[in-house]
Amino acid sequence: MQVEVKSGTDQYTVQQTRLQSVIEQVSSRDMIITDTNVLACYPALSNSKGQIISIPAGEESKSFVQYEAVVEQIFQAGFLRNGTVFAIGGGVVGDLAGFVAATVHRGVRLVQVPTSLLAMVDSSVGGKVGIDLSYGKNLLGSFYNPASVYIDPTVLQTLPTEHFQNGMAEVIKYGWILDVELLEILKKENFSVNSHNLEEIVFRCVALKRDVVEADFTEKSGLRAILNFGHTVGHALEAQAEYKNLLHGQAIAVGMVAEVAIANELGLSQIRTQDVESLFQQYQLPIRPTSYVNIDQLISLMLGDKKSTGNGIAMSLVLEPGQCKLVDNIDPALVRRVLANIWS
Ligand SMILES: NC(=O)c1ccc[n+]([C@@H]2O[C@H](COP(=O)([O-])OP(=O)(O)OC[C@H]3O[C@@H](n4cnc5c(N)ncnc54)[C@H](O)[C@@H]3O)[C@@H](O)[C@H]2O)c1
Ligand SMILES: [Zn+2]
Repeated sequence: MQVEVKSGTDQYTVQQTRLQSVIEQVSSRDMIITDTNVLACYPALSNSKGQIISIPAGEESKSFVQYEAVVEQIFQAGFLRNGTVFAIGGGVVGDLAGFVAATVHRGVRLVQVPTSLLAMVDSSVGGKVGIDLSYGKNLLGSFYNPASVYIDPTVLQTLPTEHFQNGMAEVIKYGWILDVELLEILKKENFSVNSHNLEEIVFRCVALKRDVVEADFTEKSGLRAILNFGHTVGHALEAQAEYKNLLHGQAIAVGMVAEVAIANELGLSQIRTQDVESLFQQYQLPIRPTSYVNIDQLISLMLGDKKSTGNGIAMSLVLEPGQCKLVDNIDPALVRRVLANIWS
């Protein structure tokens, strides 16, 4: 299976390839960047002809300190401009290694090899790379396309279940914003890492993301913002939880349910919240916050969301299944009322 992506003057292929054959492609000029968990599951990564840098697993590694450490190691290893960076891991590795590739020698060839479901269906496609700062997530980065993306769905066998569910939240999101048929398929089949047709779902999502980023690579026209359905509330929940004990997929599942209720209250949609909730429940994702939430603080965080232009709260709302639109200027009092109501 494969998907072609055209992005500005760049063009690359996302293709299904076994991890072993990726490892065999790595030359002595190249550098693999991975994390400790992925390396522990796939020790064969150490047998490639290239050198390897393994960062500690987890979001904390998407930091300036870790970026500097990786860059130091890259230069110490004598990495030259004609080398390729292979980012082999989840979204953390992809974002950090992508930013390293974008900046070392003012940009070297990057190959993305996503190993988590979230990275396969979302972060490895679209060219956003970067790191977190103490001021917030993903604040330092750039748009930097890979030369290729290789996906081996069999590596999902070793992905912890909660991270599989995390990725499923983004898969379900694609259904609600762009692809009603996908929602039906997800309802009918209970996908797990053992599903024989999992790659069909993965590549379907890759094609959907491709369509969006091809139309709006640098988030200028507003179309790319539809990928943010559930994310205004979700990001605020993650920030309030200080990114601990709450996975991104869990936060946006709660966020999608809430944002459907908000769209209904605004009179923009008539989607039954039970329909949204049931699919998340089917995939063991939460539909309400599982610990205490300070709604007033959440509203302040949402007012500061990058989609907001200064007046009210901005959200990418689903108007009907498969159709999503960025809505600006939503009254914070209405959002507060809806959240207090559905989370009481
Ligand atoms: N660039 C983008 O467009 C974009 C889009 C969405 C998310 N992101 C970023 O992606 C990050 C989240 O990505 P994630 O959910 O993949 O997190 P992650 O990279 O932390 O991976 C999740 C966990 O699974 C482990 N893991 C990954 N693949 C594995 C495998 N095959 N077997 C065993 N363990 C494996 C990792 O070590 C980690 O512990 C966030 O930093 C987020 O900001 C970026
Ligand atoms: Zn997301």
